[in-house]
Amino acid sequence: MHREDHPNRAVALPVSRRWLVAAPAIVLAARPAAAQLAPTPRQTRGPFYPATRPTDSDLDLTQVAGRQGRARGEVIEVTGRVLHARSGPLPGATVEIWQADADGRYHHPRESAGAADPNFQGFGAVRSDGDGGYFFRTIRPRFYGSGAGMRTPHIHFRVLVEGRPELVTQMYFPGEAMNARDGLFRSLSDENARDAVTARLEGGAVPRFIFEIVVA
Ligand SMILES: [Fe+2]
Repeated sequence: MHREDHPNRAVALPVSRRWLVAAPAIVLAARPAAAQLAPTPRQTRGPFYPATRPTDSDLDLTQVAGRQGRARGEVIEVTGRVLHARSGPLPGATVEIWQADADGRYHHPRESAGAADPNFQGFGAVRSDGDGGYFFRTIRPRFYGSGAGMRTPHIHFRVLVEGRPELVTQMYFPGEAMNARDGLFRSLSDENARDAVTARLEGGAVPRFIFEIVVA
């Protein structure tokens, strides 16, 4: 509900409706239930979730604490809210991301393509704020693999809300031609599911990708 919709904001109600203002409990009971949001589709965790948690895991993946250099690649922002399907914003949720670097490499013992960018943090974890919001500064990951194993650029997400099962999913980039050839992206059941894991791009000096996460 938008604050502006609250009935107590009404200034000049017809006499016949004034009793509503005096009886807010009845007004709330009579209001139709908020539309339920579709939960974000789950996606595989993949093999590259950090084997050991890095010492620096803050919201800025473009710089590693104690190092002078900056991560290679195009700097982007990834932001959005954690929402409950029925009750809306979820403050205090843990949001973790992990992703490949500008050359498509992970910081992980199972990475076979060579060492990842030492100035790229590769993993970040934050808590959602009072409005369910989260924010990361990172770089746009490159695709990796080939043939049937090719992975279009994506960012892995793990969302932890107290008392609920974890949500593991992946965020995809809008307008990315490789999405159509990615087996995991294509495995999503329909266009709505694919839209739900595809971020929305907002312009600006730094490209900002909006990714809303809905927990069942
Ligand atoms: Fe991946």
